[in-house]
Amino acid sequence: MKGIYPGTFDPITNGHIDIIERAYTICDELVVAVGDNLQKTCSFDVRKRVKMIVESVRDKPEIEVVSFSGLLVDAAREVNADVIIRGLRAISDYELEVQMAIMNRSLDPELDTVIMVASHHWSFISSSIIKEIHSFGGDISPFVPVPVLEGFNDKHQTED
Ligand code: COA
Repeated sequence: MKGIYPGTFDPITNGHIDIIERAYTICDELVVAVGDNLQKTCSFDVRKRVKMIVESVRDKPEIEVVSFSGLLVDAAREVNADVIIRGLRAISDYELEVQMAIMNRSLDPELDTVIMVASHHWSFISSSIIKEIHSFGGDISPFVPVPVLEGFNDKHQTED
């Protein structure tokens, strides 16, 4: 079974890594797909988001990281994925995840969604909260992989 784990990943957090690692044990092959949610303005461009993920999963070279624009179902077809992987942190995620799963299956009846419950350690994390903590000088190192810390440093250097 080949899984595709899509998201905005702006930036990837340890919560996403948890889902990737667990999905990796269930799927024979796993593709992490970096897309854009039209409701969001990203802080990191897509190339940078892909790079941070590639570096964060370097110990698992079988995991492919791609970017996509357009529909997720088209991206899934392009990589021949059998199943979409999504994480569920809390009941507040439920409505959107169910809506997306049903819509994606309506668009492609052969593509099902597997929803994995986030580990309780990371159920309170989101990319936005990480960016907010960081912008006020808080320590985000317990919540993100090292390449993301480096990504924030690079961003400051180019902005200075
Ligand atoms: N751990 C930590 N954080 C998690 C998480 C986990 N396990 N799972 C989700 N999150 C967070 C993310 O950090 C993100 O936080 P933010 O809102 O603060 O940035 C939030 O939950 C949701 O983000 P994400 O999982 O990236 O999903 P999304 O709602 O931004 O959707 C796409 C992204 C790309 C999958 C979706 O917009 C898409 O499919 N786009 C393509 C167009 C399309 O096909 N549309 C129709 C879809 S039915």
